Amino acid sequence: MALDVETIRKDFPILDRVVHGDKPLVYLDNAATSQKPRKVIEALVEYYERHNANVHRGIHTLAEEATALYESARDRVAAFISAPSRDEVIFTKNSSEAMNLVARVLADAEPPHRIGPGDEIVITEMEHHSNIVPWHQLAERTGAAVRWFQVTDDGRLDLSTVDEVITERTRIVSMVHVSNLLGTINPVETVIRRAREVGALVLLDCSQSAPHLPLDVRALGADFIAFTGHKMLGPTGIGVLWGRLDLLRVLPPFLGGGEMIELVTMERSTFAQPPHKYEAGTPPIAEAVGLGAAVDYLSGIGMEAIAAHETELTRYVLSELNQVDGLRIIGPNTAEDRVAEVSFTLDGIHPHDVGQVLDELGIAVRVGHHCARPAVVRYGIPATTRASFYLYNTPAEIDVLVRGLARVKKVFGG
Ligand code: ALA
Repeated sequence: MALDVETIRKDFPILDRVVHGDKPLVYLDNAATSQKPRKVIEALVEYYERHNANVHRGIHTLAEEATALYESARDRVAAFISAPSRDEVIFTKNSSEAMNLVARVLADAEPPHRIGPGDEIVITEMEHHSNIVPWHQLAERTGAAVRWFQVTDDGRLDLSTVDEVITERTRIVSMVHVSNLLGTINPVETVIRRAREVGALVLLDCSQSAPHLPLDVRALGADFIAFTGHKMLGPTGIGVLWGRLDLLRVLPPFLGGGEMIELVTMERSTFAQPPHKYEAGTPPIAEAVGLGAAVDYLSGIGMEAIAAHETELTRYVLSELNQVDGLRIIGPNTAEDRVAEVSFTLDGIHPHDVGQVLDELGIAVRVGHHCARPAVVRYGIPATTRASFYLYNTPAEIDVLVRGLARVKKVFGG
C-alpha cells in the first residue's frame, strides 16, 4: 500500500521549518541523519520527566521503571531485525563503535576467532571510514593484512574475484550492506557463501540498510550486523551491534567497567553474559528508549511499504537527474538493488558550490567525500553532492532539487 506521505510529514515537526527567511526546508540529507517524529521526541521527554534513573542498579521505583524501559527497547530492536534472542542485541554509541567493538575483541579472542599475523581481513572499496579504519588499526596491532573487493564503474561490487579475495587465510569479511556514497545494495549472500566455505566470520555494516529495508538477521546469515539509531528516526548516541549469541558468549569483552562484570576482586574480574558483557558503564538509556520508539514508528508504517516508497523516489530522481546536462551519477543508474541515496557531480562546478546554492534555496544535501574517500577517489573525483531520501520525502521535493540544480548552473555557468 502506498505511504500516506502527507500524514507522515505531519509527524515530523522540523519539516515545517523555513530557512533563509522564507524557504521551506527540503531535507535531502537523510543518509547523514534522519529527522525525528514527535513520538520519538515525546518518548525522550517522557523518559526524563517521569522515569529517569540509572538501570540495573537500583531497587527503587524509578530505577525499575528505567530498567524496564531500557530492556523493552532491546526487545523492540530484537524484534525489528528478527533476532533469535534479545541477548544478541548490544547497545553501543553508534555503528562506528559497534564495528570497533568487533575489531577490538577479535585481536584478544581465543582461537579459532583470534586474528593474528598472516591472517586476512576482507573489506570493500565502498566502505565508510568506520569500516576501514578499525581494520587498519587491527592489522597494525596484530600483523594481519587487509584485502578488499573493488567497485565497478557503475557502482557495483566486483565479485568476479570472490574466490581470490576470500581465501583460507581470511578470518573476517566486513562489508557494507548498502553504500552511503553509491546507494548500492550489495549481494551479501554471495560473499557470505564464500566466507562460510573458508570458515571466515562476516560483519555487515547496516547503517544505511536498517533505516530503509526490512532486515531479518536470520535470512541475512551474517555473524554480526551494526547500525545506528539516528539514521532511522532515533536519537543520536545510540547504535546497535547484533551478534550470534554463541560468538558473543565466547568472545572477550570490549570495554571494562561497571555493569559488564560478574565478580570483581582485587586480583581479577569475571564477566557478565551478553549483552551486558559488552555494555560497560551507564548505557545511553534515554537514547535506547528513543530508538525503541523509532522502531515502533517504523514498524507501524511497515518497512516493506517504506522500501517501496523509496524505490519510487529512486526511479523518479534518477530519471530527472539523468536529464540534467553535465550531471554524472556516481553509483548505479537504475533503481534495481539500490536505495534512494544519489551521489552526483555537475561538470565544472565544485560540489561545495552546489551545496551552498542549494542551501540558499532551502535544500539540504551533503557534499564532500561522505567518509568514503577511497570510493570517491576510485571515481576520479574530489567529492560528490549527495541527495538522500526517506519515508517523508516526496516527488515534489525532487522537482525542487532539479530546479535548484538549474539555478546552480545559472550561478556558476555550468
Ligand atoms: N555516515 C553518514 C553519511 O554518510 C554521516 O553522511
